Amino acid sequence: MKYLLLTLILLGTTTGVRADTPVLIGNAPARASQSLNGKWRVIVDPFEYGLYDARMQPSKEPYFNDAKPKDKSTRLEYDFDTSPQLDVPGDWNSQMDKLFFYEGTVWYRQKFDYSLKPGNRAWLHFGAVNYQASVWLNGEKLGDHTGGFTPFDFEITGKVKPTGNSVVVKADNTRHKEAVPTTNADWWNYGGITREVSVIQLPATFIEDYLIQLQKGSGNVIAGWVRINGGKAGQKVSVRIPEAGIDVTTTTDETGYAALHIPVSSLKLWSPEEPKLYEVTVSTGTDKVTDRIGFRSIETRGTDILLNGKPVFLRGVSIHEEAPFRSGRAFSDEDARTLLGWAKELGCNFVRLAHYPHNEFMLREADRLGLMVWSETPVYWTIAWDNPATFANAANQIDESIRRDKNRAAIILWSVANETPIGAARTDFLTRLVRQVKQADPTRLVTAAMLHEADAKATATSNSIVLDDPLGAVLDVLGCNEYIGWYDGTPEKADRTTWSSPYNKPLIMSEFGADALFGKHGDDQTRWTEEYQEKVFQHQLAMLDRIPFLRGTSPWILMDFRSPRRTLPDIEDYFNRKGLVSIRGEKKKAFGVMQDYYRRKAAEK
Ligand code: GCU
Repeated sequence: MKYLLLTLILLGTTTGVRADTPVLIGNAPARASQSLNGKWRVIVDPFEYGLYDARMQPSKEPYFNDAKPKDKSTRLEYDFDTSPQLDVPGDWNSQMDKLFFYEGTVWYRQKFDYSLKPGNRAWLHFGAVNYQASVWLNGEKLGDHTGGFTPFDFEITGKVKPTGNSVVVKADNTRHKEAVPTTNADWWNYGGITREVSVIQLPATFIEDYLIQLQKGSGNVIAGWVRINGGKAGQKVSVRIPEAGIDVTTTTDETGYAALHIPVSSLKLWSPEEPKLYEVTVSTGTDKVTDRIGFRSIETRGTDILLNGKPVFLRGVSIHEEAPFRSGRAFSDEDARTLLGWAKELGCNFVRLAHYPHNEFMLREADRLGLMVWSETPVYWTIAWDNPATFANAANQIDESIRRDKNRAAIILWSVANETPIGAARTDFLTRLVRQVKQADPTRLVTAAMLHEADAKATATSNSIVLDDPLGAVLDVLGCNEYIGWYDGTPEKADRTTWSSPYNKPLIMSEFGADALFGKHGDDQTRWTEEYQEKVFQHQLAMLDRIPFLRGTSPWILMDFRSPRRTLPDIEDYFNRKGLVSIRGEKKKAFGVMQDYYRRKAAEK
């Protein structure tokens, strides 16, 4: 009994359940809600006069009051009702030319009526706001959120009125050295309410969250937990998975928590070949929520990655959250279907969602399509490693990402970093982050996209790279970004390059590639042509095939994407052109090279 109790306690602490964190409603899209998506009034406020007066004291007319002049002689220098409008969800940069480069504060305001059934509770839900959000309802501050790619919820029970509610959001995408990401990145800093907004209505006692996954190391036990909010103790909780013959009932403890340990005889495991999703219903006396969940195991054995106990090669591609065709921040189910449809066309069974948690439509489409996912937190390049607030921010963002996506079978890897220069403070920071991820979610693998040192003894005929980043010691899977043929020597340099590592661990080559402007043709010595990009891929793939511990590839990148670093006129025009596909969905020659490679890899068993 003692060990069972210990197990249950350990189980209970898994997957992002840190008692001190704000409520994050599990499976928000499935909950009864009123959407606040649509046109919001906005005020662009670079000097933050919406908060402070000329002496930098709190303004007497703060924008969050959404006020109107009391009479014709009243001076009031803002008016949401006659201000411009922006679509929500959506970044501001791609909606208004004068905001294309804008970094700073934009105030958003939406009016709405709301009928709250007596005894029910209401929550204001945001899919994401980039980067710093402050939210008011009817002039009352609800709270703040930091981080541009994870959801957050504020309870508004007792604050929301039947008519004439005014929700005001201050969104600020200013970059900061101590932020996550820091001031330097190779993607567009799309600001604003970039994902959905809704009001979720729930009973007084509701299912706040749940974890329902295959227990690590077992093929026939579903483990996890359910957490109830309101009237917590002694709640009867049932979990039904009809197709798996499961209908169990348990009872919550005094904190509203119930651990699950459900033996199951026959379960069709989720895989890229057969992405089986089960309908799962969690219910209590007053609440019910239904999800579609896949069950699979993921682990490593030496240099192999095992999916459901069998070695797998991850045929992947990296993807930014860039909207196909229109550019700007992707946010919709249609964007997800387009991007992941191209990945499937490429022959992928895997996608690296760089460099931050993508919107939930991407994860649910990956579940449906059978695409394994590398999900990343934006600990990117030169983070303020010595700053405790920076660590807390990174830890919180990855925790929110795990809390949102912990039931998605597609996610097999949590990545804690991208291309972070090796140093004692950095390795300590990331080691602590890895430890937190493993504690929060012991069922998945942890990785990072690392750099490699140049071979100090490279010659004209040999180039030996050793992947010995100290961070590799605590990762389950090594990730490495390399650009032989683009940033590093000629494409032919790949022919004389060999790779080794002191770690007996799998390697995913998480980035390689080259730029090409779609439709620009020439000989394969000419930069920016499709022919040059094609040649880089040909030499890269031949090299990759010679790496004995390689177990996956995610070339950079599926589609061209906006970046403020890419200014070459008529070629880049603020786009990074390493896409295998142009922003208009046109496939470059290298797409075919990668497609042939994956066709061959898929045939290898
Ligand atoms: C880096 C980085 C990417 C960047 C890419 C490039 O490896 O991880 O974010 O876009 O290289 O330079 O194109």
